[in-house]
Amino acid sequence: MSKPLLLLTRHFPTAVEARAARDYATIPNAADTPMTGEEIAAAAAHTQPAGILCAAGDAFNATTIQALPESVKIIATFSVGTDHIDLQAAASRGILVANTPDVLSVATAEIAMLLILSAARRGGEAERMLRAREWAGWAPTQLMGVTLENKKLGILGMGRIGQALAKMARGFGMEIHYRNRNPLPESEAQGAIYHADDTAFLGAIDVLSMHIPGGAATRHWLDARRIAQLRPGSIVVNTGRGSTVDDVALCAALASGHLRAAGLDVFDGEPRIHEGYYTTPSLVLLPHLGSATVETRDAMGFRALDNLDAVLLRGEAPPHRVG
Ligand code: DGY
Repeated sequence: MSKPLLLLTRHFPTAVEARAARDYATIPNAADTPMTGEEIAAAAAHTQPAGILCAAGDAFNATTIQALPESVKIIATFSVGTDHIDLQAAASRGILVANTPDVLSVATAEIAMLLILSAARRGGEAERMLRAREWAGWAPTQLMGVTLENKKLGILGMGRIGQALAKMARGFGMEIHYRNRNPLPESEAQGAIYHADDTAFLGAIDVLSMHIPGGAATRHWLDARRIAQLRPGSIVVNTGRGSTVDDVALCAALASGHLRAAGLDVFDGEPRIHEGYYTTPSLVLLPHLGSATVETRDAMGFRALDNLDAVLLRGEAPPHRVG
């Protein structure tokens, strides 16, 4: 029996592509850049795949999904986030959508912790000073940051990534607060403090770490009004989705000093980033590295292939179906 056709929108890790090639006739994308909706639709129309293995940044809007050929049974995304896929449009076409939860929680929490540490201890500024050959030697008041011990970390969105971060931050002596739809018995048992209200949450913390999904409902969740509710001198980090932060309001709060520092791994409209970010010294910037470890990217690929295999090789439901 011939292997099902699988369209790959990106280059994936070697072990992932090797496993894909074992079970599927794979159709690679020669250019390793996010595909536009038109490019995806054209490639699918040309090749008539049974499944598509895609990644965050590939634009599966309603028009693209409407244009996919009948042959496409499943879109498996190499990500936990699904805001790049119009789930309603896929459902209306009877196309399954599946993602890769769990396996990237620790790696993403590590990047959140790295941003918290870099923002609190001015890692970005220090590195830039050295590389600019501007260091004149140790000085008692040079680049002083703040200690994390005894500070209050506010986790917005206590999913798997938020919980992994809470575990790490406890090791630094931070007190954990969280804002979530519901209190979580396990987090409560570990002493994390639940907030049912945004205002009380923002007013209680020293560091805000954002872990909410993108999409219309969360667009610019962190706006000027909510930033003003944070205590003066607070730190903000975002490893969720860039669209949840109002870039202009964040830049203004860093420029005024209301916020001490911030760290961002995700950007609204990435890879484009807000112009003001380039020139804000108290901001640490990373290029969406949350899940970028060798172990995690392999695990994400295998999980995406598990989803594809269930549907295309065994005629079953994908284990991580989102739509
Ligand atoms: C995800 O999995 O959603 C991450 O943002 C990386 O793609």
